[in-house]
Amino acid sequence: MPAPAIEMINITKIFPGIVANDNVCLSVEEGEIHALLGENGAGKSTLMSILFGLYEPDGGTIKIRGAEVAIRTPNDASALKIGMVHQHFKLVHNFTVTENIILGCESRDKFGCLDLKTAEKRVAQLSETYGLAVDPKARIENITVGMQQRVEILKILYRNADILIFDEPTAALTPQEIDELLIIFRKLKAEGTTIVFITHKLREIKAAADRCTILRRGKTICTVTVAGADERELAEKMVGRAVNFRIDKKPAVPGDEIFRIENLTVMGGKGVPALRDLSLSVRAGEIFGIAGIDGNGQSELTAAIAGLLPIKSGCILLKGKDIAKARIRARNESGIGLAPEDRHKHGLALDFRVDENLILKNFRKAPYSRFGFLRFPAIISHAQTLISEFDVRASNGPATLAKALSGGNQQKIIIAREIDLSPDLLIMAQPTRGLDVGAIEYIHRRIVAERDKGRAVLLVSFELDEILALCDRIATISKGTITGIVPAQDADERKIGAMMGGLTA
Ligand SMILES: Nc1ncnc2c1ncn2[C@@H]1O[C@H](COP(=O)(O)OP(=O)(O)O)[C@@H](O)[C@H]1O
Ligand SMILES: [Mg+2]
Repeated sequence: MPAPAIEMINITKIFPGIVANDNVCLSVEEGEIHALLGENGAGKSTLMSILFGLYEPDGGTIKIRGAEVAIRTPNDASALKIGMVHQHFKLVHNFTVTENIILGCESRDKFGCLDLKTAEKRVAQLSETYGLAVDPKARIENITVGMQQRVEILKILYRNADILIFDEPTAALTPQEIDELLIIFRKLKAEGTTIVFITHKLREIKAAADRCTILRRGKTICTVTVAGADERELAEKMVGRAVNFRIDKKPAVPGDEIFRIENLTVMGGKGVPALRDLSLSVRAGEIFGIAGIDGNGQSELTAAIAGLLPIKSGCILLKGKDIAKARIRARNESGIGLAPEDRHKHGLALDFRVDENLILKNFRKAPYSRFGFLRFPAIISHAQTLISEFDVRASNGPATLAKALSGGNQQKIIIAREIDLSPDLLIMAQPTRGLDVGAIEYIHRRIVAERDKGRAVLLVSFELDEILALCDRIATISKGTITGIVPAQDADERKIGAMMGGLTA
């Protein structure tokens, strides 16, 4: 038996107030695709950061290819041929693809000049071998997320790594890009590379992984062979209790029309319309879903409603009143709650505390302010109520900084804040993207509960499963316009797929 490529034995890592890794064990065979599965905050990124030399463990042993090693810096990891693709890419945006790949290990010719020719040849060769299609001369800022990820992979392969770590590689990808990545994984494996990838998505584990190790609250739960494993069982081991994949909901009882968009046109970045003559309407007590592939105008639609993008023509009517030109604060106060697509950029003030984030939209009002001063007792008790109602895990309670929360808990903070405003219209843009099963289940139940209270809900999602499970009516968006609207009971995956392509209406 050859030694495993990676052995992490009894790894412990303690952060102030939390044991992120508690005697964790992980063993990965040479040439296998090994998934690391766990809810947000389970300790997956910490464990991989230790393997890559970003954190020093408080205890435990690491063996690489059978030999005990000390990995103190990413350079130590690289010397051991370990490479990591981080959740948020680390590329220089105004550099080209090739420049990014060779950055830090540039080869020089005999005169000491940068030898770009040789580098380009090598990159072309790697890209051919592993099926990593990139445009070597393009600037990072101009290429898709999928291609940026391929650049990150090439960067690692260029440094001869044969153990590749991926932290949530599919979180930012479209379904099509995910399929492409899983094919790349198989190519890498065929060439003898060892892969560890972090994910929440059971489907991806089934599609790509040989074995899977499950972490829960900092502890190793088990390692299983994927071929024989049942999805429900994996999900239950991950969250530590039974999970309900089906959403129980009663038929909708729609009321009056709350929200209407008429012939909305919004310009995109390159002088072409991002939204063209888009119309839709949402009634009280219904969930209206917008299905579509990423990049077809979904971001511009929510941005235009929120007031972040100027509109060229058309109206946006909330309870009959046109808000298309209203100021952002006026829109917030007129009865729109919005969980934005980009949680970090538009949803939270990451350096602020949880209690402050929970009053971002109403801090000027009583009881949170008086005579222009914030009243912290009221702010803190408000936060305590929402933290317990929404089951937010914040180690330091209301005083926890937003940036210290896991993704699922950050999203719960945003949703709690928006629902707390009792909006007539609740807009959910990719509400569960990148979240774990437990958080998804909670947020889904909550969305249905808000519908049942009579709110109008507009759900924008790339996840067709989510759309089909939650919505009462489903619209498809393609190239900035609505290509069809159907009642949910008449919809299935194939029909929606065809509507996205504009085939039926
Ligand atoms: N640099 C850090 N400082 C303090 N706490 C951290 C730090 N990084 C992670 N944590 C905490 O450790 C726990 C595990 O985090 P992480 O490894 O990122 O989880 P996962 O990747 O499984 O979502 C979480 O509770 C997180 O808040
Ligand atoms: Mg993580």
